[in-house]
Amino acid sequence: MRSRRFLVALLCGAMAATAAADEASDAAERELGEAAYAKNCAYCHNGGNPLGAGAPLRPALKLMSRERIRAAVVNGRMRVNARFLKPAELEAVIKYLAAEPAPAAAPPAAAASS
Ligand code: HEC
Repeated sequence: MRSRRFLVALLCGAMAATAAADEASDAAERELGEAAYAKNCAYCHNGGNPLGAGAPLRPALKLMSRERIRAAVVNGRMRVNARFLKPAELEAVIKYLAAEPAPAAAPPAAAASS
C-alpha cells in the first residue's frame, strides 16, 4: 500500500516535470525565434526601412501559415535572407512568426501583443 502511494507520487512528479520541461523548451524555442527574427528579418519586416519596402509587417506575417512562411524562407524569395540561420533557428522563426498554433493555445499576453 505504502509503496503504491509512493509510485503514484513518483508518477505525478514525473508528469509535472515533463510538462515543465515542455514549457521550458517552448519558451527557449520562442526566444530563439525571436532573436533570430530580430537579427535577420526585423530590419525589413518591422517597417520604416526602404530595403524592406513591400515586406509584410508582423501582423501580416502572423496571418500566414507555417507552410507559407516555410516555403518563403526555404525555397522562396526569403531564402537569401535566411541563409545564415541554422535549421533550428529557421524552425523557431517559422513558429514565432506564423499563425499556428491557433491563438487559443497561445498565452494571452503574446496573443494580445502580436
Ligand atoms: C532585405 C529585406 C528583407 C529581409 C532581411 C527579410 N525579408 Fe522577408 N520580405 C521582404 C520583402 C520586400 C517581402 C515581399 C516580397 C514579395 O512580396 O515578393 C518579404 C516577404 C516575406 C514573406 C511573405 C512571403 C509570402 O508568401 O508572401 C515572408 C514569410 C518573409 N518575408 C519572411 C522573412 C523572414 C523569416 C526573414 C528573416 C529570416 C525575412 N523575411 C527577411 C524583405 C525582407
